[in-house]
Amino acid sequence: GGRPLVLGIESSCDETGVGIVRGTQLLTNTVSSSMEEHVRFGGVIPEIASRAHLDAFVPTLREALAEAGVTLDEIDAIAVTSGPGLAGALMVGVCAAKALAVATGKPLYAINHLVAHVGVGLLRTDDGGPQEIGPQGNTLPDNLGALLVSGGHTEILRIRNITGDVELLGSTIDDAAGEAYDKVARLLGLGYPGGPAIDRLARAGNAKAIRFPRGLSQPKYMGTADEPGPHRYDWSFSGLKTAVARCVEQFEARGEPVPVADVAAAFQEAVVDIITSKAVLACRENGITELLLGGGVAANSRLRQLTEQRCSAAGIRLTVPPLALCTDNGAMVAALGAQLVMAGIAPSGIAFAPDSSMP
Ligand code: KG4
Ligand code: ZN
Repeated sequence: GGRPLVLGIESSCDETGVGIVRGTQLLTNTVSSSMEEHVRFGGVIPEIASRAHLDAFVPTLREALAEAGVTLDEIDAIAVTSGPGLAGALMVGVCAAKALAVATGKPLYAINHLVAHVGVGLLRTDDGGPQEIGPQGNTLPDNLGALLVSGGHTEILRIRNITGDVELLGSTIDDAAGEAYDKVARLLGLGYPGGPAIDRLARAGNAKAIRFPRGLSQPKYMGTADEPGPHRYDWSFSGLKTAVARCVEQFEARGEPVPVADVAAAFQEAVVDIITSKAVLACRENGITELLLGGGVAANSRLRQLTEQRCSAAGIRLTVPPLALCTDNGAMVAALGAQLVMAGIAPSGIAFAPDSSMP
């Protein structure tokens, strides 16, 4: 009985995260990032990330336990991201979690990073974060959907059961939204990581100064509700990236300064407009009335704003996690782990291997 105390470990990319939850209550979310070590390379270098996880894991674990005011003895279960992500980076977190599980005799749960990005929406936080959805335990509302927008994925999902039964309604057919942000930021000379840089710069720009294309929005792709086209709920961001590159080239060819703030704002508007319009359409046509927003790009201010507006207009109840729970962290892993424990699902044991390309 009681709500399980679960420790979550995340190491799939450049963030070493340890989070602790009690049931659906967030106790602590401790994150150490190696991003600064990757900035000069313009992207995350796997080998550097793996070594940084090795250095950061024990201090991050100690800090999390101290902050939550709990000991390892009191923990009921350990959860760890087993994929998808960088193979070497995942290996560090998985080995650390297995060692902890063996040393303490606690059950260990292997967690899908992407489902955790969505499952974090089930957490209650004390800082005005998401409200609790549904009663405690594994009972979720009917008609629950999730919009997952990260560096590697852009997907609209129906969640029948967060512990495994997830149906893909639509996804990107090329770049992920975060990838598009990062590539366009590089094009505009904004450095890495690009998402936050574009988000900031776009505030100073005029989104209507330039009109960039909305991928897969033509009737031949959309079809109608009765006769859906081949990509009604899908996205494409590679054409948008090319359009931004052409636009920049044209300014340069004319010897004019590139209005980077306007380009950033117009690019962001195109991404956010098509993500939210297709997501809301998919919800309406599939009877989804509750939506969880998750993934690194869910930290984007314009995406948060427009998703809220459009969901509210469509009568969809939206849960948007606080910023710190959108980017990679251990609390989301603990949150999903707690759902598995509460659903009575058997632990994974310690024989599983990390899977860098887990679907
Ligand atoms: O979920 P995440 O932390 O890592 C993956 O699992 O992929 O997402 C990282 C992505 C990066 O592409 C980053 O540029 C983007 O999320 N991102 C943002 C913002 N913050 C992070 N994109 C747009 N606006 C932001 N504020
Ligand atoms: Zn992530």
